[in-house]
Amino acid sequence: MEETRKTGLKANPCEEFRHRLEMARLGGGRERIERQHASGKLTARERVELLLDPASFVELDQLVIHRCQDFGMAERTVPGDGVISGFGTIENRTVYVFAQDFTVFGGSLSETNALKICKIMDLALENGAPLIGLNDSGGARIQEGVASLGGYADIFLRNTLASGVIPQISAIMGPCAGGAVYSPAITDFTFMVERTSYMFVTGPDVIKTVTHEEVSKEELGGAKTHGSKSGVSHFTVANDAACLLAIRDLLSYLPSNNLEDPPSTHSDDPIDREDQRLDSLIPEDPNKPYDIKELIAGVVDDRRFLEVHADYAKNMVVGFARFGNQSVGVVANQPGYLAGVLDIDASLKGARFVRFCDAFNLPLVTFEDVPGFLPGTKQEFGGIIKHGAKLLYAFAEATVPKITVITRKAYGGAYCVMASKHLRTDVNLAYPGAEIAVMGPEGAVNILYRRELQAADNPDALRAEKVSEYRSKFSNPFIAAERGFLDAVIEPKQTRAHVIRALRQLRGKRQSIPQKKHGNIPL
Ligand code: HXC
Repeated sequence: MEETRKTGLKANPCEEFRHRLEMARLGGGRERIERQHASGKLTARERVELLLDPASFVELDQLVIHRCQDFGMAERTVPGDGVISGFGTIENRTVYVFAQDFTVFGGSLSETNALKICKIMDLALENGAPLIGLNDSGGARIQEGVASLGGYADIFLRNTLASGVIPQISAIMGPCAGGAVYSPAITDFTFMVERTSYMFVTGPDVIKTVTHEEVSKEELGGAKTHGSKSGVSHFTVANDAACLLAIRDLLSYLPSNNLEDPPSTHSDDPIDREDQRLDSLIPEDPNKPYDIKELIAGVVDDRRFLEVHADYAKNMVVGFARFGNQSVGVVANQPGYLAGVLDIDASLKGARFVRFCDAFNLPLVTFEDVPGFLPGTKQEFGGIIKHGAKLLYAFAEATVPKITVITRKAYGGAYCVMASKHLRTDVNLAYPGAEIAVMGPEGAVNILYRRELQAADNPDALRAEKVSEYRSKFSNPFIAAERGFLDAVIEPKQTRAHVIRALRQLRGKRQSIPQKKHGNIPL
């Protein structure tokens, strides 16, 4: 049965009002709701209910209908017009939310649908509250043509203006194709639901026509692809419910806007807790890997770390945690993956995260163990120069409290980039086994003693001697400490206490950058 309906007036206004509300509540009708459930998805209304604190949702524009007269659309109106919008609370803090209703014209974006979304975007910005978009849409409403396209551009403009002012979160819970992808792309964090969501600018059919490549929807733009290959998505979640709970968790680390501090929570984890395991976590052999996430878990409150971009550029680890109840952004090299080297993807991942934290008053705690930038033509041709510069730029311009702990290697340009003292980092610490030098001992000896090594009867013995000499002279934290590039050398097990002390010391930090319209980050 066709579920769309005419909205003829009933004699009694109250009856008419209740009828329209019921129509709005039913969206595209029972049959389409069942189809939505059968495909493993919740409806837009069910999603909003799960996302927000119970009974806190206040819906706006519930009776809005589209204005399209073509293609028989005048006869097919549904109050609400395919998007549910309004505000409510998450842990008692106000958030604004819109949820596209796939049961109404495939959640496609009409002119009025866009006006509804823009209205709550404006309200979110004016009231300094986060914006959450639950996306499940067939894109621009085909029957409306350019009116619908204009609606998208109106949304993109607002996403841009709100960037850095309020946190913006997108959940992809169904299709998101064509230009529609650019709203989530501008927002701060994108969640994707496994198996039911996909994002692409051009779909498999167009790709086949243009490039003759054959690729499935899932492979092209599924949650796994964007969570691990493209980095478009920050969080991959198993289903709708998990997605909505994860958004609530993420918000618990964030302030409502750029003028507020993140909410503080209560934890009984002692601030001076020592973790003995940390003293033996880092192998003596500098070439042996270890898992930086074990170190992070060992020092943050209650071992809780919300990792962002967990499956993308794993040589860099970023995410949110708390130290002594204070929310921070953690940035770390991962020696357990590609030796923690900095490459294009890791630089992009780190830079975007650092800038988010700086915009939203989240102190940055950096754990550094980096052998340098990844060599190779792929990296150079791909623009590691400009991408690496983004990470450098992000750390340099950040004025939030910055604390860096060098856990092992800090070599070459990567030493400078990873929140070194020279980039106005407030507190720089290092473990006694840290190695801070222009390059690793083997590489340095091969350059410094090339001629001697070529002439030597026993080059291996000479190399070993020179490597040992170089290591004892440069591969330690003491020269940096003597120069004041490090504020202190600390024992690993005491990391937590040192970081919390530094964060408390820096609570009143006020630092600025020169007046400008905006900088010119090397994009
Ligand atoms: C109007 C749409 C629609 C659209 C889907 N529907 N997309 N109506 N405009 N864009 C309607 C369908 O007619 C159908 O209506 C209902 O939604 C469900 O769609 P189905 O096709 O039955 O569902 P499904 O098989 O799950 O397929 C979903 C889909 C497919 C993959 C999204 O509908 C699709 O390919 N739609 C078109 C996608 C598209 O090309 N959009 C334009 C992209 S370009 P009934 O009444 O039968 O239930 C774009 C430009 C944006 O968006 C630019 C911004 C700058």
